[in-house]
Amino acid sequence: MVRSARVPAAALEAGTPTLCRSRTFGPLAEETMSRYWSAVVHGLTPYVPGEQPKLDSLVKLNTNEHPYGPSPLALEAIHAATGDTLRLYPDPNAEALKASLATYHGLRPDQVFVGNGSDEVLAHAFLALLGQEQPIWFPDITYSFYPVYCGLYGLRHSVVPLADDYTIRAEDYLPGPGRRAGGIIFANPNAPTGRLLSLPEVERIVAGNPDIVVVVDEAYVDFGGRSACRLVDRYGNLLVVQTFSKSRALAGLRVGFALGHPQLIEALERVKNSFNSYPLDRLALAGAVASVQDEGHFQACRQKVMATREALAVSLGALGFEVLPSAANFIFVRHPERDAAELAAALRQRAILVRHFRLPRIEQFLRITIGTDDQCRILVEALKEFLGRCVCHPGGHP
Ligand SMILES: Cc1ncc(COP(=O)(O)O)c(C=O)c1O
Repeated sequence: MVRSARVPAAALEAGTPTLCRSRTFGPLAEETMSRYWSAVVHGLTPYVPGEQPKLDSLVKLNTNEHPYGPSPLALEAIHAATGDTLRLYPDPNAEALKASLATYHGLRPDQVFVGNGSDEVLAHAFLALLGQEQPIWFPDITYSFYPVYCGLYGLRHSVVPLADDYTIRAEDYLPGPGRRAGGIIFANPNAPTGRLLSLPEVERIVAGNPDIVVVVDEAYVDFGGRSACRLVDRYGNLLVVQTFSKSRALAGLRVGFALGHPQLIEALERVKNSFNSYPLDRLALAGAVASVQDEGHFQACRQKVMATREALAVSLGALGFEVLPSAANFIFVRHPERDAAELAAALRQRAILVRHFRLPRIEQFLRITIGTDDQCRILVEALKEFLGRCVCHPGGHP
């Protein structure tokens, strides 16, 4: 049973990444030392991950982690890999993991690339495949790491506005007179909206851009989407990226992968082998292989998350929230009468963390990760109390 406790704001702030940044140097020393920085570093605007506070008593619905634990088989395999063999480097080619992912997705091992979380896989894809003469296209509202990679590698990009209902419109990604992309990337389901583009529409984008690579970031696809990996054999320009962090509850292990034509995979391998030969350690390799083998645990846990998502959407709808349809392990909501920053602060005071982005078009939304039923009930009660209403929830959390 998750308990919600009131926590002083200062205690919560202690876990914020912004505070960690200053390390042991004072502001003056930092300014002086920055003369050693390269021009690239001076120009960087790094990604800021969601807060990872050090307190256990929080209802943590801010970084889209899975509320249930990883597969017990994965944990056993990790324990078994913890021994004398840690003296030795891991397999640089991650052959066992590639073989097991290939079998799972009906592909060959040379169509699989693995990396240290899908963030690393995506970073390599920007450098290896997307960075061409023309700008990279991605939605105006999407995973905020994409512009960061462009900044890191000095790649030009153009943002393509989502439709008014926050969906991706496939036709906006087709080349036209005077409009050409160097590469395309989008998350599907998209983040932080949770909205899904259907597989035929994804195929329309891939088929309509045969001369450039289209990367489909499927971090959340297991919570309600159909993966584009079934198109990989038909389209040499498609790269599908997935992760063990969300639906396999292994965010702490850092395992991500890409599926695509062997030539695309070879490009990623070239970058990887010019950067870090061993991105996945022995524990990660062992745990990931075992996780893929535990289909029962995977299916049961993702079904539970999806069921909780639907119930939470009903409950929040009854409190007056607009809830965007979600195929992910989070929902994106706004209240017509309450400011999102105010709501996030009120929840925070009640030891509940959700994510609020101060960004154009979405500053009135909150992204709420689907937790356990208990966590969601605490969230709904806190919101009900704050909104000062008493509402019946047909089919939702009481
Ligand atoms: C859309 C999207 N892609 C990729 C990632 C990266 O996931 P990881 O590096 O944990 O695999 C995230 C993380 O939240 C995400 O939201």
